[in-house]
Amino acid sequence: TPLSLIRNFSIIAHIDHGKSTLADRLIQACGALTAREMTNQVLDNMDIERERGITIKAQTVRLTYPAKDGNTYVLNLMDTPGHVDFAYEVSRSLAACEGSLLVVDASQGVEAQTLANVYQAIDANHEIVPILNKIDLPAAEPERVRAQIEDVIGIPADDAVGISAKTGLNIEGVLEALVTRLPPPTGDATAPLQALLVDSWYDAYLGVIILVRIMQGRLKRGDKIRMMASGAVYAVDQVGVFAPRMVPVDDLGPGEMGYINAAIKTVADCNVGDTITDDRRPATQALAGFKPSIPVVWCGLYPIDADDFEKLRDSLSKLRLNDASFHYEAETSAALGFGFRCGFLGLLHLEIIQERLSREFNLDLIATAPSVVYRLYRTNGGMEELHNPADMPDSSLIEKVEEPWINATIMVPDDYLGPVLSLCSERRGIQKDLTYVGNRAMAVYRLPLNEVVFDFYDRLKSISRGYASFDYQMDDYQESDLVRISILVNQEPVDALSFIAHRSAAESRGRSICAKLKELIPRQLFKIAIQAAIGSRVIARETIGALSKDVTAKCYGGDISRKRKLLEKQKEGKKRMRQFGKVEIPQSAFLAALKMD
Ligand code: GTP
Repeated sequence: TPLSLIRNFSIIAHIDHGKSTLADRLIQACGALTAREMTNQVLDNMDIERERGITIKAQTVRLTYPAKDGNTYVLNLMDTPGHVDFAYEVSRSLAACEGSLLVVDASQGVEAQTLANVYQAIDANHEIVPILNKIDLPAAEPERVRAQIEDVIGIPADDAVGISAKTGLNIEGVLEALVTRLPPPTGDATAPLQALLVDSWYDAYLGVIILVRIMQGRLKRGDKIRMMASGAVYAVDQVGVFAPRMVPVDDLGPGEMGYINAAIKTVADCNVGDTITDDRRPATQALAGFKPSIPVVWCGLYPIDADDFEKLRDSLSKLRLNDASFHYEAETSAALGFGFRCGFLGLLHLEIIQERLSREFNLDLIATAPSVVYRLYRTNGGMEELHNPADMPDSSLIEKVEEPWINATIMVPDDYLGPVLSLCSERRGIQKDLTYVGNRAMAVYRLPLNEVVFDFYDRLKSISRGYASFDYQMDDYQESDLVRISILVNQEPVDALSFIAHRSAAESRGRSICAKLKELIPRQLFKIAIQAAIGSRVIARETIGALSKDVTAKCYGGDISRKRKLLEKQKEGKKRMRQFGKVEIPQSAFLAALKMD
């Protein structure tokens, strides 16, 4: 295909504004799939993704479109993840395209993630075509939203395309805008190969698949390729495109998107953003802007049943094959035994991995409190990154501790602004900006990441009845007065429950955890003391009174089957408990104790 007949584009949108629905319509309109094949949204592959309605992995589809000008165009649609945790993947996907469709729900207007994504697209020099979606809804206000796009984002929206992705209204308008308004790609087919590694994942049949965008040169079967950052060299077994099923082709040239398949053992060699070149005739320079995605949130994952440890190790390595941004290393906990310290891009990423472990691998796990990565400076001059609160040394050995800060953008209807501002200041936020977009306020805050990782998002949603939207970027590290709070159950520290907090919040959080554990730990045959302490200083204490009751006592007389059922139930309950000294703590207590109020 000549470059002038190729258009590479992505769709950017806030969650639920209709990106996947529009993608499906475009695929359908270009005849790539029959109606029956369209029953499920094509671009969202994973089950969890479908259930949660969020796009996790970037995907691509090659479409052919006979345009009104008489030419048939190749349209490469690049799906991008919508959630803030996957911002880096968004930026790589955008780097693979020349333009974006900016989808805004005409009944909702511009949201926090609309802004975050569109600014990334502007940074990537994209031509942006605004799309006003859901104009079939009675509540749609396309004119208001059009003005909002101009005011807030600052891009012209005069010729924004009004559509309904749901009913299919004016999908052709979108296709025509793509071919007439987006620029074609550029590139030199005779230059040394430079291909952007956009994504990689593990396919059970084919092994590791790499999604690439060719910038310069050509890539064909049998080529020996080199990943410029990792240095790994492979022979290419297959080159192809997604149409949307995988279709092998002879080669890929500049401006094209497709996949390559080689005998690659580990996705760890295939970092998103790396440049692929020809091993025999390498490019002198890698493409700009490669940075590996770094986990910002860590937590421990432990099998409830110690016998599941090997199974957990095996499952984690399988997940890692599919997700190079997920990290793990073995660790041991005095309380929980053998497990793994796992690193994630954010809280949603953490939840998704946890859910996949339980659902796809059938593992019962205890997760410790999520923690951010602190920088610890020791009095003896050393600096280390602290992933686990339990590793924080005695305060006498610490010179200073630094914590990561983020820049957060929150958009919320005026009515809920008050509580949102209080939440931010409660969490040590510093207001940078407060402006209005119609009747919605846009607040920009600097916040310590550790105040956000537990439940900030949940709280934000609940105090705004679901109307607030939130997005953030990592900013810098700053020194802070941080302390480790240990939780002791009958004088024994439960390392999995220890956490790091700002000194000003230590006491109230310690108290609230003790109070919760009191509710959550079942009474036992002896008295249980629950304490929170900083070093050796106890800052909170609760006591659970003793209990002496046989569960079967209720079963008067001889109803043996009922009695057996109760005992069975009790046994089942036991499996989900962890023994601390003589005290048993149910798994639910861990999770609940770690949520703040
Ligand atoms: P993420 O994948 O979570 O980023 O969401 P998305 O932006 O892909 O949204 P999706 O396409 O899943 O659509 C969200 C909801 O809006 C779905 O229930 C769609 O059926 C609905 N929807 C999408 N387009 C339209 C439209 O034009 N009109 C109406 N009425 N509903 C629509």
